[in-house]
Amino acid sequence: MQRGTDTTLAASVLARGGLVAFPTETVYGLGADATRPEAIAKVFAVKGRPAAHPLIVHVAPGAALDEYARDVPASARALASAFWPGPLTIILKRGKRIAAEATGGSETVGLRVPSHPMAIELLVKVGVPIAAPSANRFGRVSPTTADHVAADLGDDIEYLLDGGACSVGVESTIVDLSDASAPALLRPGGVSRAELERVLAQPLGARTSTPAPGTLPSHYAPRARVIAVAPDQLASAARAAGARVAILAPHSVIAGAKLPPDLARIALPDAPDAEARALYAALRELDARGVDTIIAALPADTSGVAEAIADRLRRAAGPREDGT
Ligand code: TXA
Ligand code: MG
Repeated sequence: MQRGTDTTLAASVLARGGLVAFPTETVYGLGADATRPEAIAKVFAVKGRPAAHPLIVHVAPGAALDEYARDVPASARALASAFWPGPLTIILKRGKRIAAEATGGSETVGLRVPSHPMAIELLVKVGVPIAAPSANRFGRVSPTTADHVAADLGDDIEYLLDGGACSVGVESTIVDLSDASAPALLRPGGVSRAELERVLAQPLGARTSTPAPGTLPSHYAPRARVIAVAPDQLASAARAAGARVAILAPHSVIAGAKLPPDLARIALPDAPDAEARALYAALRELDARGVDTIIAALPADTSGVAEAIADRLRRAAGPREDGT
C-alpha cells in the first residue's frame, strides 16, 4: 500500500479499477468506481461484507441527481440543497449509471456528496461516482484517521489518501426517500433528525425495508464487550462486570460518577459534536489496551448528533451472534 495526499494518483488508481481509501468528514471510505462491477467486487471481498449489503455511492458537488437516480422527488432536491456537501446519505431509486453490484442488487441507491476537501478533489478528478463503505472490516469500528485504515486494511488497498482526522467522526445520516410519501430515518448521523424534519416539513418515520448492516443489532463494535448504560449506572455496572473493565464517558459524567480511583477510563469531551469526533478512536484505544469490557455512558439527551452516539453505542453493545 502507498500512502499520501496525492489525489491525482488516487484518481488514477480508481480509474483502472483499484481500491483507494479516502477521508470524508464522517469516517474514511474504502472506494471503488461505482460504475465497474469488477472494482466493486474487490470492495466486498476486502471488507468481508455480504454481497447483498448495499454500498453508499459518493458523488461530486453539483452532480445531477438524475444521472444516478430515477424519479427523484422534490424532497430529495430540498435535502440535497440544504445539506450537501455534508454528512447525509439519501436513498433513491437507482439510476442506470450505478452498477447493480454497488447496491447489492437493490433497486435503490444511497447517494452522498461528502464535504471533506480531499474527497471532493478526488471525486472531481476521477469523474465517476465512488462506491465506498466505511474502510473497516465488516461489523467493526469505522476508521476516523488514516492510521486506523492502515491498521485494518493496509495490505488490501493500493492507495491510502491521508486527510487527517475526520471532523464529524460518526457515519452519515441515512434518509430513505425511495418512497417519497414515507420518508424514513434509517441511521442517525451528522445531520440531526430535527434539521431534516425542518427541511422536509414532516416527521421522519422508521425503516420499513430490509435491514441494512449499519442497522443490524451488532455493528460498529470493538473487540471488547460493550455495555451501554445510563450515566448514573456507570459505577454499579463496572462493579458487576469483573476484571479488565474500562469506563468510556464524557468528562462531566465521569466526574460525577464516584468511580473507584483505580478503574481504567477514557474521558470524552462533554460537547456532543466533540464526543462524536473522539468516540471511535477511544473504542480502538481501549481495544489496544487489552480491556475486556467497556462500560459506556449513553447520552442523557439524544438531540442533535447525540442520537447517533446513542445509536452506535447501543449497536456496539448488541448481541454478537456471528462472533465478528
Ligand atoms: O458516513 C458514511 O456514510 C460513510 C462514509 C465513507 O461515506 N460510509 C458508510 O458506509 O458508513 P457503510 O457501507 O459502512 O454503511 C452504509 C450503510 C449501510 O448500513 C448500508 O446498508 C446502508 O448504508 N445503505 C447503503 N445503500 C443503501 C440502500 N440502497 N438502501 C438501504 N440502505 C443502504
Ligand atoms: Mg460501515
